[in-house]
Amino acid sequence: MRKQIAAANWKMNLSLPQAEELIIALLETDHSLNDHQLAIFAVPFPYIIPVKQMLDGRQNIFVAAQNCSANKNGAYTGETSAEMLQSIGLKYVLIGHSERREYNHETNAELAKKVNIAMEHQLQPIFCCGEPLQIREAGTQNSYVETQLKESLFHLPAEQISGFVVAYEPIWAIGTGKTASSGQAQEMHAHIRTVLATQYGNEIADGITILYGGSVKAANALEIFGQPDVDGGLVGGASLVATEFAAIINSLKK
Ligand code: PGA
Repeated sequence: MRKQIAAANWKMNLSLPQAEELIIALLETDHSLNDHQLAIFAVPFPYIIPVKQMLDGRQNIFVAAQNCSANKNGAYTGETSAEMLQSIGLKYVLIGHSERREYNHETNAELAKKVNIAMEHQLQPIFCCGEPLQIREAGTQNSYVETQLKESLFHLPAEQISGFVVAYEPIWAIGTGKTASSGQAQEMHAHIRTVLATQYGNEIADGITILYGGSVKAANALEIFGQPDVDGGLVGGASLVATEFAAIINSLKK
């Protein structure tokens, strides 16, 4: 069975004491992860090391960065390289979140470079894709998302895409409280898997984890994660509340 993942995206939230409090509270909640389930915390850069230390030794729980530079190293003030993330023992990095695409003008081509440099440093990208509202209203979301995948991922050879993690996040559902229906999520996830299968074959496509993101919360996680092509979620707002995120972890497919 492909990996089922509950990924928290804290975005630019919390002080260090608040972050520590959240992790402590979460560890005290009743949650469990089996062999094919993971919880991943994408935390702000300054908290990666302390949160990682707090989670050390926990089975199937990982820390991720929310971004990395497309460049290897050098004069890029304010940037963080994949090599640095690897050197502190990270295994995952978010790439191409819609907020970075929008506010930092990250293009599909630049994201392809980030994917490459992450993989060169044994970091598994959690590659985010998803359409804005006007594309959904025009009904062209399938080809829009397909282009995002093609331009940023399809240069990868089969062995690198194998076991990959994609997060589908319709922009109109992020932080808006307006979740895609479980039917809309399933439809797009199935489309993404078909697109991956066309390029890489059924076996590889079946092994790729596709997360849904956009206003996932305890109250809707079970229904969304219950869809056959939805393999968990990338969770913003609700990941900042320990009991909510614990319930989301417990909603992963068994
Ligand atoms: P949200 O954010 O859960 O607050 O909608 C999801 C995300 O942006 O990853």
